Amino acid sequence: MKNSQMAGINEQLTMGYFRENVEKLKAYTPGFQPKQPGVIKLNTNENPYPPSPMVMQALSQIQPEQLRKYPDPHADAFRQAAAQVHSVKPENIMCTNGGDELLGMAVRAFCDENRPVAYPVPTYSLYPVLAEIQNCKAIEVPFDSEFNLPSALARTGAYLTIVCNPNAPSGSFISVGELSSLADEINGVLLIDEAYVDFAQENCLSLVKDFDNVIILRSLSKGYSLAGLRFGYAIADAGLIEGLMKLKDSYNVDAIAIALATAAIKDQPYFKENIEKIKKERSALTGQLRNIGFDVPDSSSNFILAEHKTCSAKEIYDKLVQENIYVRYWEIPGISNKLRITVGTKEQNEKLLEAISRILKSK
Ligand SMILES: Cc1ncc(COP(=O)(O)O)c(C=O)c1O
Repeated sequence: MKNSQMAGINEQLTMGYFRENVEKLKAYTPGFQPKQPGVIKLNTNENPYPPSPMVMQALSQIQPEQLRKYPDPHADAFRQAAAQVHSVKPENIMCTNGGDELLGMAVRAFCDENRPVAYPVPTYSLYPVLAEIQNCKAIEVPFDSEFNLPSALARTGAYLTIVCNPNAPSGSFISVGELSSLADEINGVLLIDEAYVDFAQENCLSLVKDFDNVIILRSLSKGYSLAGLRFGYAIADAGLIEGLMKLKDSYNVDAIAIALATAAIKDQPYFKENIEKIKKERSALTGQLRNIGFDVPDSSSNFILAEHKTCSAKEIYDKLVQENIYVRYWEIPGISNKLRITVGTKEQNEKLLEAISRILKSK
């Protein structure tokens, strides 16, 4: 229909071009990215420290020729470097445009109208959106109040089960042994979303060697300070990787991203030092928030989930925004009185604590 004919016709009709589930879709809401200077941004779990100097050096060495040509469709330089770090083969790795691309690919690969996806809730709010887009049923199995793995998750009959570990937004961690049992019990694929695992005490990498139905998701956005680059990867049995490769865009990661991500993963000493700094700040922030009346469960991630004993999360959130401090708050059952706070630098965390203390005193 021409735009001129559209005048006066309601929006409902314009929407008619989309598939029914897309029309009904409530799109994923990314965390707010404030544009004004001087903001303390603790709302989207970015790493507060810069990427490795090797990354910036690799950026300065990008040649025009690398931009003129298409990139390596398999990003082999990265696959080789990551394979070395993880003691797997390059065939066990597939690079993606952020971990999010892998999640979308997995839902497309394993799910449809008759093949549901399952995951424990509350968790990463992108999963239901991907299910909706694919028009597959999402079986949401509630966590208990301590975020233990629900035993019912093993009995959903889903073709794809996703477990975010450490979980977002709780920061809780499920043991490798429990996830190994889950991989064994289910018939479908188990995708373990390890976007935040760099900040945890252990990871599920060993399950890739033991099971042909486990996909590990990794991201360079958090541990490697490269959220702006958009680079993630899957680690899985070579057969699963080969199958997933069929779904990807030919050149899903660009030449600059491949070069920079490879430089980042090769600089393990910088990465490890950075992670240790964040873990130290996480434990300091947790302790200080507990001292001023917050319940803060131990976190295995680079964020914490905090609930004040008397003051509402919404009130604290709104007042922090007035002070140019952004944390994350959702009106979602189970977490609606909690704030998810990304662990920042020592200075950022101190400013946050000063602001929260002021807010609590003013009540
Ligand atoms: C739980 C979880 N999984 C996966 C991702 C995807 O990360 P990215 O696409 O930045 O690699 C995120 C991003 O915030 C996340 O929170």
